[in-house]
Amino acid sequence: MNGTLTKPYTNGTSVKPSTNEILVQPQQVLKADADGFLKHNVLDLFSLVGRTIVITGGGRGIGLALAFAVAEVGGNVAVVDVLSEPHPHFRELEKFNVKVKLYKSDVTNFEILKTTFENIVQDFGRIDGLVTAAGICPDEPFLNRKPESVARCMNVNVLGTYYAAQLAAAQMQLQDPIKDYAKRGSIVFIASIAAYVASKGQTTSDYCASKGAVLSLAKALGVELAMSGVRVNSISPGYMMTDMTLDLAQKNPHLGAIMTNEPPMRRMGDRTDLKGLIVYLLSDASAYTTSEDHLVTGGIHAGRLL
Ligand SMILES: NC(=O)c1ccc[n+]([C@@H]2O[C@H](COP(=O)([O-])OP(=O)(O)OC[C@H]3O[C@@H](n4cnc5c(N)ncnc54)[C@H](O)[C@@H]3O)[C@@H](O)[C@H]2O)c1
Repeated sequence: MNGTLTKPYTNGTSVKPSTNEILVQPQQVLKADADGFLKHNVLDLFSLVGRTIVITGGGRGIGLALAFAVAEVGGNVAVVDVLSEPHPHFRELEKFNVKVKLYKSDVTNFEILKTTFENIVQDFGRIDGLVTAAGICPDEPFLNRKPESVARCMNVNVLGTYYAAQLAAAQMQLQDPIKDYAKRGSIVFIASIAAYVASKGQTTSDYCASKGAVLSLAKALGVELAMSGVRVNSISPGYMMTDMTLDLAQKNPHLGAIMTNEPPMRRMGDRTDLKGLIVYLLSDASAYTTSEDHLVTGGIHAGRLL
């Protein structure tokens, strides 16, 4: 193990493997163990003990709640955020007796982010998982949008996700898996219900487009990195209660009412609603799940009663 990110990453090589190298031969299939499920206890499958998970945008909001989920099942957490001062809850992560550290960085600047990832590897020794929760959501009519502002949204939401995934996957290629079953790593992007439907009461054209891109990126990378043992999935939350959305609802009560009434379940999501899913996706419990989006919306994606 070393702290550099210099090796090529796809499949340990930058050369495409031949079809013969990829295909599993029939005699190998017959050697496979059909009773493997007897050896894997479900509580062990969900454990993140000894693993290091990087969370971009984990200084507050959804990312911070996901940091709690990771720490609660024994994972170490490296948070990457532009904030100098995280939400006060961040300090409570220490009580889980795992390693936790905040790195002030910017996901839109590849060189700065690369140095941050190198520092994380130096401090933690490895990267087993990545969650990309850094994101922004401008709300302005399409015809008024200025190029710089649209570019900013794309830079944070799309390129920031792309860069972080590339840096994490590069490091994962250099490491031996913690357990054989774990393979090399798991990457989870936070997309949004906005990748599927426009948000009622909001004008968020570039945000919707950016989340569509994040969702497609997870699908493409899940396939490209599958043979190298890195899984890539996304989560698409609906309206989640965070400081940001509560602030929005306070400034615009009409929007607060929409966010509560739109979901068929008639409530906003609590960040608790994402904790089980993130542990599932980061852990060995989801070892055969990749390139998939997971909607957590209280039912909005399926339809609306009103
Ligand atoms: N809150 C919701 O209802 C909701 C719903 C669907 C999807 N999402 C997505 O979930 C993610 C988190 O949202 P949230 O509600 O927690 O928002 P938030 O604003 O509370 O948190 C976002 C975090 O990202 C950080 N960040 C922003 N730009 C950054 C950059 N350039 N580099 C590093 N960090 C940066 C911020 O400092 C902040 O800590 C976002 O991608 C958002 O689009 C949120």
